[in-house]
Formats: sequence, C-alpha cells, structure tokens
Amino acid sequence: MPAQKLKVAITRRLPEPVETRLAELFDVTLCDSDTALPREELAARMAEVDVLIPTLGDRIDAKLLSGAGERLKLIANYGAGVDHIDVETARARGIAVSNTPGVLTEDTADMTMALILGVSRRLKEGVTLMQSGDWHGWSPMALMGNRLGGKRLGILGMGRIGQAVAKRAQAFGMSVHYHNRRRLRPEAEEEIGARWWDSLDQMLARVDILSVNAPHTPATFHLLNARRLKLMKPTAFVVNTSRGEVIDENALTRALRNGELAGAALDVFEHGASVNPRLRDLPNVLLLPHMGSATVEGRLEMGEKVLLNIKTFADGHRPPDLVVP
Ligand code: DGY
Repeated sequence: MPAQKLKVAITRRLPEPVETRLAELFDVTLCDSDTALPREELAARMAEVDVLIPTLGDRIDAKLLSGAGERLKLIANYGAGVDHIDVETARARGIAVSNTPGVLTEDTADMTMALILGVSRRLKEGVTLMQSGDWHGWSPMALMGNRLGGKRLGILGMGRIGQAVAKRAQAFGMSVHYHNRRRLRPEAEEEIGARWWDSLDQMLARVDILSVNAPHTPATFHLLNARRLKLMKPTAFVVNTSRGEVIDENALTRALRNGELAGAALDVFEHGASVNPRLRDLPNVLLLPHMGSATVEGRLEMGEKVLLNIKTFADGHRPPDLVVP
C-alpha cells in the first residue's frame, strides 16, 4: 500500500505540527472540532478510510467495527491506552491496532508525583485559601500535611509508568511496594528498590499512599472496590493517573466522605468527564482533567509515533506499536 495513496481520518484536532506532517504524507481528512466526533460521523469516516486515528474519547466497539466495511485496515490510536477499542473484534475483522506507548511514561510519572505531593501537602486547600483572600500570615499549625520521606508507596500496576513512579518515589525517600500480575526481574526490583506483594489486599493494608498505574481491562475493572478500600489505613491517600474504571468511584467517594481515607488525587474518572459531583467539594480531594500526558513534547512525540506506525504499515511491515489482544 503506497503511503501517498493512503486515506487517513483523524477524529478530532491534534497539535498542529502533527496534523501538518500527516497531511504532507497522506490523504488526510482533518477535523475542525476539538471534541469527540458524534458516533454516526465516526462510523461514516471509518467506512471511507484505510487508516483511522482515534483518541481515547472515541468508543470503537464491535458494533462500530462491524459497520466499518472492507477498506479500514489500521486503527492508529493517538494514545497509549486502548481500552476504548475492541481490539479482539478489530483483529478478527483484519484491522490492525497500534498505540503510542513509551513517549508519555515520564510525563505521566511526573504528574503522578505532582498529585502525590499535592494531596499529601494539601495544595488544594492552600491555593483555595490564597484565592479567597482570607490568608492572614504564617501560623505554626496551619495546613500541616504529611512528609513523603519514610512513607510507604504502594503501586498498583508495575508497567512502564509504575516503574517510572517508583524511581521518583525512591528519590523522595519513600519505600516502594507494588502489586502486579507478573513480578519484575530481581535486578529490576533492586534497581527501583521495590517490594512485590502477591496479595493486593495485604499491600493495601500497609501503604500510606496508593498510586494506581494499571490499565483498564476486564481483570482490573473495580479492582479497588469498597471491600479493598476498607482495608486501607484511614490516614492513607489514593492517587490515580491511569484509568478511572480501576476504582469504584462511588465506593471511593463514600470512603472519603466517611473519613475512611485521608484524601485522593485523581486525574482520571470512571465515567470520563462526568465526575461524581460529591467528590468535587471535598477539601482533601484534588481533581485534574486527565492531563497526565499533557506536555508539548509528549503530545508531539505521540504524533510521531502515530506517523511511524502508519508509515511502517503502509510499507507492508508490522507497525512497531502493534497492539496484540
Ligand atoms: C493515554 O494515552 O492513554 C493517556 O491516558 C492519554 O493521556
């Protein structure tokens, strides 16, 4: 398939240099809007192109794939997580799926640390106080938070991002614990100073801060449920920069409101932008609008990965970031 001939559709605005580069190389249908396409429009685009470049806001399920017709051959996702794409059905229909892993690891790990610091040092309350104009000067007991050094960080999901968080946490003097389906090699554990827990329940009972870094899969859906949240110390914090669905958001909200947890910092939510309103007004809950990977550099590198995946595929080779279900 010669690259110049490929018809490619993007489902929403991407950073301009990425769009420009795509338009230089392929016959591209761009988008005017920076919101996800309505489902019917998405379906129409899928039927007309060889390659679709969606983002995490596009739900590409079996129904949509079954209407895609014969032309679509590659879904080159602009993003690492592919839980919004039915990869199995795509594969069964001969449609390859690629993603953009690696380039957002460090940015997301930085944001995880920002949230860990933010919630344990009460940044939201400090900022709110300054914005209200009600601050009257330093006080020995005002807004005392928790020191990170000496605390136990539990990491749920020890992939690339989990490991990058572990390295940062080690530099802050925290002891790192993790739960992951597969245990790391002993050298890797040693390098990041992390202790593996086969039992998530046992780890949860011991940590001061839990960082969720596991992808959303059927196996991780609501892994942090009401029962498990109750195992945690009432002084513990929960941080999530991965996918909202890994935590039962209602159960978390109840635990926070009942004082069963000390606080939470969340960049992702179970129902996307429909954030539980009962979370918003809690002083000990820091919420961000899914900005873990939002750096200029990261978003451009994600675009480069998308380009490389499409070019490689067009040249008849396996895309470097092919997602295998
Ligand atoms: C991804 O790529 O899946 C991230 O969640 C976007 O920030």
